[in-house]
Amino acid sequence: MQAILLVGGFGTRLRPLTLTTPKQMLPVLDRPMIEHVVSGLGRHGVDRVVLALGYQDDAFRAAYPDGRCAGVELCCVVESEPLDTAGAIRFAYEASDMGAVPSTFLVANGDVITGLDVSELLRLHRAAGAEATIHLIEVEDPSRYGVVVTNAGGRVTAFVEKPSPPAPSRWINAGTYLMEPSVIGRIASGRRVSVEREVFPAMAADGTLWALRHNTYWVDAGTPETYLRAQLDLLDGRRGPAAAGVSGEAVVDPGAVVERSVVMAGAVVAAGSVVRGSAVHSGAVIEPGAQVLDSVVGSEATVGRGARVADGTLIGEGSAVAPGAALSGARVPEAA
Ligand code: GTP
Repeated sequence: MQAILLVGGFGTRLRPLTLTTPKQMLPVLDRPMIEHVVSGLGRHGVDRVVLALGYQDDAFRAAYPDGRCAGVELCCVVESEPLDTAGAIRFAYEASDMGAVPSTFLVANGDVITGLDVSELLRLHRAAGAEATIHLIEVEDPSRYGVVVTNAGGRVTAFVEKPSPPAPSRWINAGTYLMEPSVIGRIASGRRVSVEREVFPAMAADGTLWALRHNTYWVDAGTPETYLRAQLDLLDGRRGPAAAGVSGEAVVDPGAVVERSVVMAGAVVAAGSVVRGSAVHSGAVIEPGAQVLDSVVGSEATVGRGARVADGTLIGEGSAVAPGAALSGARVPEAA
């Protein structure tokens, strides 16, 4: 099966990390995010992935110069301007010539890491004769997602993007879809079109959209909190055997405390410092007595002596936190 992977967004919620690296090329423990996503698709029968690129497309081509990622063939297409999620699907479908042999294809958001069994999605899609089928996941607070209401057989009766409370359901669009080629004809060309706001609501109204309720491992790693969670889940063994967080090529002083954190190759954690619930990217330096709590320190960044960064602070690549500073939920540099 062929898949279109949407990876052209600006990733504004992860700025300043995404000012220098596109979101799906940010590291998740030991590999770029995209490799976790593509290897999951490859395990479930996807053998060709069309990358729908836009923002910082060169970073992807440089990382996979031989056109393969996690054992899967890649095809790169680039929008000259962002066409939004549905516009990107149409552009990628046409630019990669997927229509040459029209068949069911998969679409996934590039920041969704999931254990979804695609064959289960395909079973429902085929049995229902659906035009498109969406994977749904159940969440506590659906207000910031696309909420999907189905009948008992799985036909979608309502698709409401970011509903005001009370939400009509706790089952949300999990960002993986199967589509028939006819969906492409529903997407206007040459302008921004959102699959969540335009295409799916129209299909729900026509009765051609289905959805599979399937609770499995799932994280949309697009916010500071979930980007960190995607990594800590690997340490906690929520996706297979618990992984080690500290790279063998990092330097952690015996007098430092590193708890439930990722410390990547070439990072230095000095004596008397504390790193807890955080990710310290390659080449970053945590100076003596500094504390990094529930935060991300970008590559080659420095947290100065005695500084404290906490509560979802993001430090951009190569940036510096002054010695003794105290930051909570901050962005460095701030203007980002
Ligand atoms: P934020 O700016 O933080 O909302 O991130 P984002 O730009 O990535 O947007 P969002 O997470 O809502 O997008 C969902 C998926 O669609 C991500 O994988 C994006 O990379 C991708 N995406 C969003 N807009 C476009 C677009 O215009 N073109 C392409 N090719 N992909 C897009």
